[in-house]
Amino acid sequence: MQRIFSGIQPSGIPTLGNYLGAIRNWVALQRDHACIYCVVDLHAITVWQDPRQLATQTRELAASIIACGIDPQKHILFHQSAVRAHAQLAWIFNCVARLGWLNRMTQFKDKAGRDRENASAGLYVYPNLMAADILAYHATRVPVGDDQRQHLELANDIAQKFNHDYGVAFFPTIEPLILGPAARVMSLRDGTKKMSKSDASDQSRINLSDGPDLIAQKVRRAKTDPAPLPSEPAGLEGRPEARNLVGIYAALADSTPADVLSEHGGKGFGAFKEALAALLVESLAPIAAETRRLLADTATLDGILRDGARRAAAIADPIVAEAERLVGFVGP
Ligand code: TRP
Repeated sequence: MQRIFSGIQPSGIPTLGNYLGAIRNWVALQRDHACIYCVVDLHAITVWQDPRQLATQTRELAASIIACGIDPQKHILFHQSAVRAHAQLAWIFNCVARLGWLNRMTQFKDKAGRDRENASAGLYVYPNLMAADILAYHATRVPVGDDQRQHLELANDIAQKFNHDYGVAFFPTIEPLILGPAARVMSLRDGTKKMSKSDASDQSRINLSDGPDLIAQKVRRAKTDPAPLPSEPAGLEGRPEARNLVGIYAALADSTPADVLSEHGGKGFGAFKEALAALLVESLAPIAAETRRLLADTATLDGILRDGARRAAAIADPIVAEAERLVGFVGP
């Protein structure tokens, strides 16, 4: 069985966009893979994080993805800082990766912005840590969004250069698993912008912790246009808000926009929004309730993460120890 590894930022309770874009894919992969899912708190501090918030957001994210169906018993879920092997292998990779490679990373340029001199050194070597995350487990399949493709290419360059420099075939080739999102979920206030946690308006997004009334209210107030729903997808052209709501409905119903429109086409948005709100509540209310239950008992939640970290370390420690031996370290 191929080993899956993926990482997710500890950004607190996810949005519907995170759920349909990534988390649902992670849940589905558990059916026929051995999965390791990591909350990447080491990556998070490459930009400033308030310490109390970081701990809270790490727990919120973990609780929420368990509530979404990540199974921490059959698979492995843990927080990155709890497994020392990540930082240990990342140091070796800092010495394998070339400055020229890192200078090409578009995510660094985007995140550092104009004030590049003031970015942390950690932000610069972020991709080396990401390579270490994956290769410490000899994981070969990595589900990520398209924006992470360049980082995975760099990880393969690092693996290859390590193997070449030390004359071994130790690190495997990583295969990116770019799963198209079930739906590209856009802001409820502006159908041309991605649904995002950083949007100033909470009305622009659905959080996986929102209760039924709040969900219904947000859907009712979502921006739309005056025309009724078209009866086929071609009619969504140039209507980003309509396209967004239909896409969300289709993703949640495991259906297609075409099928949704053949059922709801011709109706005004009032009726469609009622149907969408009901579907959202049915899908998300159990997730919100389970998340709340998990967060009410942090001792148990921390125990789940600690158990995941222990099982993760049991895989990563021997691999990283062997990498250290290949490099020529005498060993502890
Ligand atoms: N950089 C990834 C992101 O922002 C998160 C991540 C960290 C990751 N380590 C990883 C993803 C290892 C896949 C594999 O989305």
